[in-house]
Amino acid sequence: MSDSGTRPELWMAPMRGITTPEFRAVWRKHSGGLRGAVTPFIALSRTSRLRPERVRRHLGDPAPGWRVIPQALTSDSEPFLELAHIVADLGCDELNLNLGCPWKKIRKKGRGCGLLAHPDRLFSFLDTVCPRLPVSLSIKVRPGIERLDELDALVPRLNAYPLAHVTIHPRTAEQMYTGCADLETFRRLAQAFTAPVWYNGDLLSVRDFRRFRAALPRQRTWMLGRGLLIHPFLAEMIVGDRTVLPDYLPKLRAFHEDLLRVYCDELPPRSVTGRMKELWSYLAQGLPHGDAAFDRIKHARSPEELREAAARVLDEASR
Ligand SMILES: Cc1cc2nc3c(=O)[nH]c(=O)nc-3n(C[C@H](O)[C@H](O)[C@H](O)COP(=O)(O)O)c2cc1C
Repeated sequence: MSDSGTRPELWMAPMRGITTPEFRAVWRKHSGGLRGAVTPFIALSRTSRLRPERVRRHLGDPAPGWRVIPQALTSDSEPFLELAHIVADLGCDELNLNLGCPWKKIRKKGRGCGLLAHPDRLFSFLDTVCPRLPVSLSIKVRPGIERLDELDALVPRLNAYPLAHVTIHPRTAEQMYTGCADLETFRRLAQAFTAPVWYNGDLLSVRDFRRFRAALPRQRTWMLGRGLLIHPFLAEMIVGDRTVLPDYLPKLRAFHEDLLRVYCDELPPRSVTGRMKELWSYLAQGLPHGDAAFDRIKHARSPEELREAAARVLDEASR
């Protein structure tokens, strides 16, 4: 069943390479409207050597009123349990299992969405970890690899486990990010799960949110992904029910400058430009003449060139 109630609760989706601890901290300084974030996945295998210090950095600094739910990508119970103990020691009360990653390379190893094709492995994993977990377990899932109804058969068995919540992105793995999130599939699965269900997929603007909310009036918890990258202030606009933010460009400029500065302090120059270009592939979509804007950014060869290109793009957008 979906959560009931009217006040939307919004979460930042995990986006590997983009919603880093640095991004989340800078985002929090410049914006609001989110309850917290699910972190990008930590990939675990039988040979993983987990270092608590690395996990602590992955979680980022704690902040009042802000929850962080770490996510793991694995089908191996022992490293998952080890990670669960580390995050519990670091103050987390939940660990999320990635059952949605659509990339073929990962699926082929029976991880992410690929684990749905091996129900015995999935349920043996859950049988092993659930009684021993020091934190709650939640999952993030797509409804299938090739079809939108593959998960349906697994739901009654998944309902036997104490899941804190289930985030559903209603697209198949084969679809990746093409086509549209399928509301009918979400509705059907939300009815079938006994755990609270969070909606994720295609909430790219306030108008999208209004449309999805009208279609899913009982839905309370929503996860914002690419929409937050296209428009970093989307959550506060949704909460305030505003389609326009008059000081959007100055706010974006300040957010961008801060993030670039933080990355420059932490990373080698090549990684800074890589990270910022990936973010800009989304940010540009929220600006007039987005393709031309991104063209300028992607030619930057250093953080300094990127800063200059971004300043020009934002100057032009404010004219
Ligand atoms: C660049 C990128 C990285 C992502 N990394 C993760 C990840 O680490 N874990 C995960 O569960 N989903 C990941 N996702 C999927 C998103 O969390 C989300 O489910 C998807 O983008 C659909 O939501 P949206 O339409 O609001 O973007 C990623 C998506 C993108 C675009």
